Amino acid sequence: MTASADHLKALLSAHAARDDDRFYGVAMQVAAKSARQGHGKLAAELRELIDAARAQKIPRLAPTPVVQPRGELANLLTAGYPETRLGDMTLAPEVHTLLDKVLHEQRQRGRLERFGFTPVHRLLLSGPPGTGKSMTAAALAKELGLPLFTIRLDGLISRFMGETASKLRTIFEAAAETRAVYLFDEFDALGADRAAGNDVGEARRILNSFLLFLDQAPPESLVVAATNHRQLLDRALFRRFDLAILYGAPSTQQAIEVLRRRLSEMDTSAVRWLELGVCTEKLSHAELVKAAESAAKRAILGGDDVIDQQHLTDALDERHALRHA
Ligand SMILES: Nc1ncnc2c1ncn2[C@@H]1O[C@H](COP(=O)(O)OP(=O)(O)OP(=O)(O)O)[C@@H](O)[C@H]1O
Ligand SMILES: [Mg+2]
Repeated sequence: MTASADHLKALLSAHAARDDDRFYGVAMQVAAKSARQGHGKLAAELRELIDAARAQKIPRLAPTPVVQPRGELANLLTAGYPETRLGDMTLAPEVHTLLDKVLHEQRQRGRLERFGFTPVHRLLLSGPPGTGKSMTAAALAKELGLPLFTIRLDGLISRFMGETASKLRTIFEAAAETRAVYLFDEFDALGADRAAGNDVGEARRILNSFLLFLDQAPPESLVVAATNHRQLLDRALFRRFDLAILYGAPSTQQAIEVLRRRLSEMDTSAVRWLELGVCTEKLSHAELVKAAESAAKRAILGGDDVIDQQHLTDALDERHALRHA
């Protein structure tokens, strides 16, 4: 055995600290020791392996700094450090399962990479407004301890027109350097190019630029594209994502859960939840949250924290009325 126990310990601790220089330095010491012990062939092989590994050393993405986009980038995206947790969301069980899988693969990506596999890192979220697509991107960022960078594609396209592809490239270059969750909101704007007044050539440039980015996106970052017009998107585009997740209106049980959670700080002992089922129909998660907030504010301004059944029903009816306004 050429490597001593001390060498092994030093190798492990260098690896754990992601300190490549120290790692290869110790490996070179092992090679030198082998040579001294007369194992010339082994020493030569070790040196060769070290040189080859150093030559193809892939720069690891910087550990997430507290980043704020500066200069041109500040105009193209917004940065945030969300506090939303996945557990705060009410989701269909199958959506929950998929998101847990994303988190699990991201957290264990080292193990996957050692065998040549990459974690799921390109997600397409689609579904009606207010069902939690943007919130999911925020929750994933929080769960992984990453910043959330949001890029509103519709805004980008209408603001920069012919320069959109080059602006996207600026974003992608930054993305290659910073581990984060990148949320491309209003993603269907990529498919609705003509409406934005761009010529077809420009639309293709934007799309190609995006596809290139998707192909090259580093697996340490998450790219999340969100849309509520999935049908506008080219099918070829879907295949470039690792996972497509469908969001939908909440079931009655989920709707009640959204209300209960939003009212968890209030006294709801008088609320007959099951009777609310009908009033929650067709309302999105976002609308239910607003109704709950409205009922809570009414209670607070009325002098206490007791939620009244009638007030909650009224608030839900109001959301229905707004829907049809
Ligand atoms: N699944 C959910 N669980 C709990 N609250 C939710 C959920 N979905 C939405 N909400 C509430 O609604 C608000 C808006 O949701 P969000 O912005 O995530 O919707 P969206 O699906 O991105 O809609 P849009 O298509 O309009 O962008 C959230 O901030 C949250 O208060
Ligand atoms: Mg959204």
